[in-house]
Amino acid sequence: MYNHIDLDAIHLEETPPEQEPDRQRYFIAKARKQVRALSESAGRPMTFHIETYGCQMNARDSEKLAGILTMMGYVPHDGEDADLAVYNTCTVRENANRKVYGHLGKLKRLKEKNPYMRIALCGCMTQEPHVADTLKKSYGFVDLVFGTHNIFRFAELVFRMLESDAMVTEIWEGTKQIVENLPTQRKYPFKSGVNIMFGCNNFCSYCIVPYVRGRERSREPQAILDEIRGLAEDGVVEVMLLGQNVNSYGKTLAQPVSFARLLSKVAEIPGIRRVRFMTSHPKDLSDELIETMASSKKICRHLHLPVQSGSTRILKEMNRGYTKESYLALAAKIKRAIPDIALTTDIIVGFPGETDEDFLHTLDVVEEVRYSSAFTFQYSKRSGTPAAVMEDQVPEDVVRERFSRLLNTVQDLAKKECARWEGTIGQALVEQVNVQDSSLLTGRLSNNLLVHFPGDPALIGKIVDVRLAACKGFYYMGEMI
Ligand code: 5AD
Ligand code: SF4
Repeated sequence: MYNHIDLDAIHLEETPPEQEPDRQRYFIAKARKQVRALSESAGRPMTFHIETYGCQMNARDSEKLAGILTMMGYVPHDGEDADLAVYNTCTVRENANRKVYGHLGKLKRLKEKNPYMRIALCGCMTQEPHVADTLKKSYGFVDLVFGTHNIFRFAELVFRMLESDAMVTEIWEGTKQIVENLPTQRKYPFKSGVNIMFGCNNFCSYCIVPYVRGRERSREPQAILDEIRGLAEDGVVEVMLLGQNVNSYGKTLAQPVSFARLLSKVAEIPGIRRVRFMTSHPKDLSDELIETMASSKKICRHLHLPVQSGSTRILKEMNRGYTKESYLALAAKIKRAIPDIALTTDIIVGFPGETDEDFLHTLDVVEEVRYSSAFTFQYSKRSGTPAAVMEDQVPEDVVRERFSRLLNTVQDLAKKECARWEGTIGQALVEQVNVQDSSLLTGRLSNNLLVHFPGDPALIGKIVDVRLAACKGFYYMGEMI
């Protein structure tokens, strides 16, 4: 679909079009010429490697970058020693930034050995004001730096990078633009993420995302449905709708549409067998959504519902917009309406001012909700966020001790929760040959748990019935029936 662009029909001697996506298509064609010349000079194809950190949004963005590079004539290479190494960064926690700077040192050494090598950095980290300065000052060997708002201009930026010997930097503070219909290269042929909105308006007090991803913007439902119809025609059976807070989808459109309504429209598309979504904010989760999920078998039995903390006092400081009690009531309502649902969550320990008593409320929620898994994080101070200047930052050793208590509780309970389905039959989308044992296949159940079972690799991409014979903690061993 978007990959069917006739690059030969583009007149490269003309001035670049003003309109998007035509302008980027023009630069794909221009860069293709440069890449051809480089390949001829090197006597081999030019290769690329994209290293992706962070969330599903970044994973999807990387597929878009890969689509553009492939169309330019770059070929994928499994390793950082490629001719173009792209780092798609995350900045939710401070240690992610440290890791990237560490990696850049390694890339510098690789670049010294390969005269064709170029290094590009993009993603949330580059949107932080001090990062571009640090890169200019101490990492002058990086060739291209761009942000999250102008990612659709990647083709043009690659072209400029290949023309220039100096670092090309383009970072926007924000945008209202959503550019559709640029190429993508999916990691899996049978499943795909689909952005339904960008940015976040919630300003949770610890979180840097609203500053680096900008204000919330929803895509038009028609553009989303067209994209998914195209994916279905291309063999995709499972889509994951992506947004920082999908429950507020569509509220700012000229003709508002609820997320639940969008979800049922997606589930009606022929060929789409499963629909997932990520992430739900508890404060905006509607009864309409619960009813829509309960009444459609195509909507997966999994809800990621970040709680962050179980203490009402801390939740208020976090600006989350719900209390311990209202969260628990919501989780109970969802479980009543959809008994076979699996709930997962995100939890932060050590938010400023968190006392032992606050922390016990978090453990309490974990025990009551019985998540089938939870991402647990130690609070990381992000400068520019309100929480960074709050008093009573919790000492590191206290955070570490609470973190390990939380992890033990989460893991104990998650094991029990996952075992709930032992002996039942589940539908698994076969994703790959098991990485440890090639006689087994690995499939994903509707509730997001993995199951490993003997089978023919020809089944990859198919949905099969599997008896969930034995629960091994967080996954199942099974057999096809
Ligand atoms: N410190 C620790 N964890 C954080 N998250 C977001 N910001 C921070 C931070 N400053 C976690 C939240 C969010 C997940 C994606 O990352 O739990 O849901
Ligand atoms: Fe960050 Fe809160 Fe927005 Fe999630 S909802 S991205 S935690 S500000």
